[in-house]
Amino acid sequence: MDHRKNIEVCFTPGEYEYFKDEYEIVVVIDVLRATSAICAAFHNGIKSIIPVATIEEAREYKAKGYLVGAERKGQIVEGFDFGNSPYSYMNEALRGKEVVLTTTNGTKALDVAKDADTVVVGSLNNLDALCEWLAEQDKNILCLCSGWQDKFNLEDTICAGAISEYLIGTGKFTSSEDSSIAAKYLYLSAWDRYMGFLKASSHRRRLKNLNLNEDIKYCLTPNLTNVIPILRDGKLVKL
Ligand code: MLT
Repeated sequence: MDHRKNIEVCFTPGEYEYFKDEYEIVVVIDVLRATSAICAAFHNGIKSIIPVATIEEAREYKAKGYLVGAERKGQIVEGFDFGNSPYSYMNEALRGKEVVLTTTNGTKALDVAKDADTVVVGSLNNLDALCEWLAEQDKNILCLCSGWQDKFNLEDTICAGAISEYLIGTGKFTSSEDSSIAAKYLYLSAWDRYMGFLKASSHRRRLKNLNLNEDIKYCLTPNLTNVIPILRDGKLVKL
Protein backbone atom coordinates (compact mmCIF):
# COMPACT_ATOMS: atom_id res chain seq x y z
CA MET A 1 0.00 0.00 0.00
CA ASP A 2 1.23 3.48 -0.95
CA HIS A 3 1.22 5.72 2.15
CA ARG A 4 2.39 8.79 0.29
CA LYS A 5 0.23 11.89 0.27
CA ASN A 6 -0.74 13.70 -2.92
CA ILE A 7 0.72 16.95 -4.16
CA GLU A 8 -1.26 18.19 -7.14
CA VAL A 9 -1.49 21.36 -9.21
CA CYS A 10 -4.59 23.20 -10.37
CA PHE A 11 -3.76 25.71 -13.12
CA THR A 12 -6.57 28.24 -12.58
CA PRO A 13 -9.27 29.19 -10.04
CA GLY A 14 -11.86 28.21 -12.68
CA GLU A 15 -10.70 24.58 -12.51
CA TYR A 16 -10.68 24.45 -8.72
CA GLU A 17 -14.17 22.93 -8.59
CA TYR A 18 -12.74 19.74 -10.14
CA PHE A 19 -10.17 19.41 -7.34
CA LYS A 20 -11.84 20.78 -4.23
CA ASP A 21 -12.63 18.68 -1.16
CA GLU A 22 -9.81 16.23 -1.93
CA TYR A 23 -6.99 18.23 -0.32
CA GLU A 24 -6.56 19.31 3.28
CA ILE A 25 -4.09 22.05 2.36
CA VAL A 26 -4.46 24.50 -0.52
CA VAL A 27 -1.46 26.67 -1.42
CA VAL A 28 -2.64 29.77 -3.30
CA ILE A 29 0.02 31.09 -5.68
CA ASP A 30 0.07 34.42 -7.54
CA VAL A 31 3.75 35.14 -8.15
CA LEU A 32 3.05 38.34 -10.16
CA ARG A 33 2.13 39.90 -7.74
CA ALA A 34 -0.59 39.26 -5.16
CA THR A 35 0.91 36.46 -3.09
CA SER A 36 4.39 38.00 -3.31
CA ALA A 37 2.94 41.28 -1.99
CA ILE A 38 1.14 39.40 0.81
CA CYS A 39 4.41 37.71 1.86
CA ALA A 40 6.18 41.10 1.74
CA ALA A 41 3.44 42.59 3.92
CA PHE A 42 3.89 39.99 6.67
CA HIS A 43 7.66 40.14 6.38
CA ASN A 44 7.35 43.85 7.04
CA GLY A 45 5.17 43.49 10.10
CA ILE A 46 1.57 43.84 8.92
CA LYS A 47 -0.76 42.16 11.45
CA SER A 48 -3.43 40.78 9.13
CA ILE A 49 -4.89 41.04 5.64
CA ILE A 50 -8.56 40.57 4.84
CA PRO A 51 -8.68 39.30 1.23
CA VAL A 52 -11.86 40.17 -0.65
CA ALA A 53 -12.86 39.08 -4.13
CA THR A 54 -14.71 42.18 -5.34
CA ILE A 55 -14.21 45.94 -5.56
CA GLU A 56 -17.66 46.37 -3.98
CA GLU A 57 -16.61 44.50 -0.82
CA ALA A 58 -13.38 46.50 -0.76
CA ARG A 59 -15.40 49.76 -0.97
CA GLU A 60 -17.53 48.67 2.00
CA TYR A 61 -14.39 48.18 4.11
CA LYS A 62 -13.00 51.51 2.90
CA ALA A 63 -16.20 53.24 3.97
CA LYS A 64 -15.77 51.71 7.43
CA GLY A 65 -12.31 53.30 7.71
CA TYR A 66 -10.06 50.34 6.82
CA LEU A 67 -6.84 50.76 4.83
CA VAL A 68 -7.61 49.06 1.54
CA GLY A 69 -5.42 47.88 -1.35
CA ALA A 70 -7.20 47.37 -4.67
CA GLU A 71 -5.73 46.33 -8.02
CA ARG A 72 -7.38 45.54 -11.32
CA LYS A 73 -5.47 44.76 -14.54
CA GLY A 74 -2.19 45.64 -12.82
CA GLN A 75 -3.20 49.12 -11.74
CA ILE A 76 -4.28 50.71 -8.46
CA VAL A 77 -8.03 51.23 -8.46
CA GLU A 78 -8.93 54.88 -7.98
CA GLY A 79 -10.06 55.80 -4.49
CA PHE A 80 -8.06 53.12 -2.66
CA ASP A 81 -4.92 53.43 -0.52
CA PHE A 82 -2.57 51.24 -2.56
CA GLY A 83 -2.51 48.36 -5.05
CA ASN A 84 -0.53 45.15 -4.83
CA SER A 85 3.04 46.20 -5.35
CA PRO A 86 5.18 44.45 -2.70
CA TYR A 87 6.88 47.83 -2.16
CA SER A 88 3.60 49.39 -0.99
CA TYR A 89 3.73 47.08 2.02
CA MET A 90 7.30 47.93 3.04
CA ASN A 91 6.01 50.90 4.92
CA GLU A 92 6.60 51.64 8.60
CA ALA A 93 3.12 53.14 8.85
CA LEU A 94 1.57 49.73 8.10
CA ARG A 95 3.40 47.79 10.84
CA GLY A 96 0.93 46.14 13.23
CA LYS A 97 -2.03 47.19 11.05
CA GLU A 98 -4.87 45.22 9.48
CA VAL A 99 -5.47 45.92 5.79
CA VAL A 100 -7.98 44.77 3.19
CA LEU A 101 -6.88 43.61 -0.26
CA THR A 102 -8.59 42.84 -3.55
CA THR A 103 -6.70 41.90 -6.74
CA THR A 104 -7.64 40.65 -10.20
CA ASN A 105 -6.69 37.01 -9.64
CA GLY A 106 -4.91 36.35 -6.32
CA THR A 107 -7.74 37.26 -3.98
CA LYS A 108 -10.18 35.50 -6.30
CA ALA A 109 -8.14 32.28 -5.87
CA LEU A 110 -8.12 32.81 -2.09
CA ASP A 111 -11.88 33.24 -2.23
CA VAL A 112 -12.57 30.02 -4.17
CA ALA A 113 -10.28 28.03 -1.83
CA LYS A 114 -11.49 29.54 1.44
CA ASP A 115 -13.46 26.48 2.58
CA ALA A 116 -10.46 24.12 2.48
CA ASP A 117 -9.21 22.94 5.92
CA THR A 118 -6.02 24.97 5.54
CA VAL A 119 -5.20 27.71 3.04
CA VAL A 120 -1.67 29.11 2.90
CA VAL A 121 0.00 31.63 0.60
CA GLY A 122 2.89 30.63 -1.65
CA SER A 123 5.27 32.61 -3.84
CA LEU A 124 8.84 32.34 -5.00
CA ASN A 125 9.68 34.77 -2.18
CA ASN A 126 8.82 32.24 0.56
CA LEU A 127 9.52 29.06 -1.43
CA ASP A 128 11.97 27.16 0.80
CA ALA A 129 10.24 27.97 4.10
CA LEU A 130 6.89 26.95 2.62
CA CYS A 131 8.24 23.70 1.15
CA GLU A 132 9.87 22.73 4.45
CA TRP A 133 6.64 23.40 6.35
CA LEU A 134 4.48 21.52 3.82
CA ALA A 135 6.81 18.52 3.94
CA GLU A 136 6.11 18.15 7.67
CA GLN A 137 2.31 18.20 7.37
CA ASP A 138 1.46 14.65 6.23
CA LYS A 139 -1.59 16.02 4.37
CA ASN A 140 -2.82 16.00 0.77
CA ILE A 141 -1.81 19.29 -0.82
CA LEU A 142 -3.12 21.24 -3.80
CA CYS A 143 -1.20 24.13 -5.36
CA LEU A 144 -3.83 26.50 -6.74
CA CYS A 145 -2.36 28.82 -9.37
CA SER A 146 -4.18 32.14 -9.70
CA GLY A 147 -3.44 32.45 -13.42
CA TRP A 148 -4.82 35.44 -15.29
CA GLN A 149 -8.59 35.76 -15.51
CA ASP A 150 -8.93 31.98 -15.37
CA LYS A 151 -6.25 31.41 -17.98
CA PHE A 152 -3.06 29.41 -17.39
CA ASN A 153 0.12 31.34 -16.59
CA LEU A 154 3.77 30.38 -16.60
CA GLU A 155 5.06 31.95 -13.37
CA ASP A 156 2.49 30.42 -11.01
CA THR A 157 2.87 27.04 -12.69
CA ILE A 158 6.67 27.13 -12.34
CA CYS A 159 6.31 27.97 -8.64
CA ALA A 160 3.78 25.12 -8.20
CA GLY A 161 6.18 22.80 -10.04
CA ALA A 162 9.02 23.80 -7.69
CA ILE A 163 6.86 22.98 -4.65
CA SER A 164 5.80 19.64 -6.17
CA GLU A 165 9.35 18.66 -7.08
CA TYR A 166 10.58 19.42 -3.55
CA LEU A 167 7.77 17.46 -1.88
CA ILE A 168 8.07 14.47 -4.22
CA GLY A 169 11.82 14.50 -3.50
CA THR A 170 11.13 13.93 0.22
CA GLY A 171 9.67 10.51 -0.69
CA LYS A 172 6.51 11.35 1.28
CA PHE A 173 4.45 12.69 -1.65
CA THR A 174 3.35 11.64 -5.09
CA SER A 175 1.49 13.29 -8.00
CA SER A 176 -0.94 11.66 -10.36
CA GLU A 177 -2.71 14.48 -12.22
CA ASP A 178 -1.29 15.45 -15.63
CA SER A 179 -1.40 19.13 -14.58
CA SER A 180 0.99 18.32 -11.71
CA ILE A 181 3.34 16.36 -13.96
CA ALA A 182 3.32 19.21 -16.50
CA ALA A 183 4.03 21.80 -13.76
CA LYS A 184 6.95 19.72 -12.50
CA TYR A 185 8.50 19.39 -15.97
CA LEU A 186 7.95 23.07 -16.71
CA TYR A 187 9.79 23.91 -13.49
CA LEU A 188 12.62 21.45 -14.26
CA SER A 189 13.15 22.81 -17.76
CA ALA A 190 12.86 26.49 -16.79
CA TRP A 191 14.44 26.83 -13.34
CA ASP A 192 18.10 27.52 -14.08
CA ARG A 193 17.13 30.27 -16.56
CA TYR A 194 13.66 31.17 -15.40
CA MET A 195 14.17 34.96 -15.46
CA GLY A 196 14.83 34.69 -19.20
CA PHE A 197 12.17 32.03 -19.66
CA LEU A 198 9.57 34.25 -18.01
CA LYS A 199 10.32 37.13 -20.38
CA ALA A 200 7.66 35.43 -22.50
CA SER A 201 5.07 35.52 -19.69
CA SER A 202 1.98 37.55 -20.58
CA HIS A 203 1.63 39.15 -17.15
CA ARG A 204 5.31 40.04 -17.04
CA ARG A 205 4.77 41.91 -20.34
CA ARG A 206 1.64 43.55 -18.92
CA LEU A 207 3.50 44.75 -15.81
CA LYS A 208 6.54 45.84 -17.85
CA ASN A 209 4.25 48.01 -19.99
CA LEU A 210 3.11 49.64 -16.74
CA ASN A 211 6.79 50.32 -15.80
CA LEU A 212 6.65 47.83 -12.94
CA ASN A 213 10.07 46.25 -13.59
CA GLU A 214 11.19 46.57 -9.96
CA ASP A 215 8.09 44.68 -8.84
CA ILE A 216 8.79 41.94 -11.39
CA LYS A 217 12.40 41.55 -10.18
CA TYR A 218 11.29 41.42 -6.54
CA CYS A 219 8.49 38.91 -7.13
CA LEU A 220 10.75 36.59 -9.15
CA THR A 221 13.47 36.48 -6.47
CA PRO A 222 13.33 33.25 -4.46
CA ASN A 223 13.57 33.08 -0.69
CA LEU A 224 13.44 36.65 0.48
CA THR A 225 11.42 35.67 3.54
CA ASN A 226 10.44 32.78 5.82
CA VAL A 227 6.88 33.97 6.43
CA ILE A 228 3.98 31.66 5.63
CA PRO A 229 0.68 33.54 5.54
CA ILE A 230 -2.31 31.38 6.53
CA LEU A 231 -6.06 32.03 6.27
CA ARG A 232 -7.82 32.00 9.65
CA ASP A 233 -11.46 33.05 10.02
CA GLY A 234 -11.38 34.98 6.76
CA LYS A 235 -8.15 36.82 7.56
CA LEU A 236 -4.60 36.12 6.47
CA VAL A 237 -2.18 36.06 9.40
CA LYS A 238 1.41 34.93 9.86
CA LEU A 239 1.67 31.22 10.69
C1 MLT B 1 -3.51 39.58 -9.38
O1 MLT B 1 -3.89 39.26 -8.26
O2 MLT B 1 -4.20 39.43 -10.35
C2 MLT B 1 -2.15 40.13 -9.65
O3 MLT B 1 -1.47 40.35 -8.50
C3 MLT B 1 -2.21 41.27 -10.62
C4 MLT B 1 -1.08 42.26 -10.55
O4 MLT B 1 0.08 41.90 -10.66
O5 MLT B 1 -1.34 43.45 -10.36
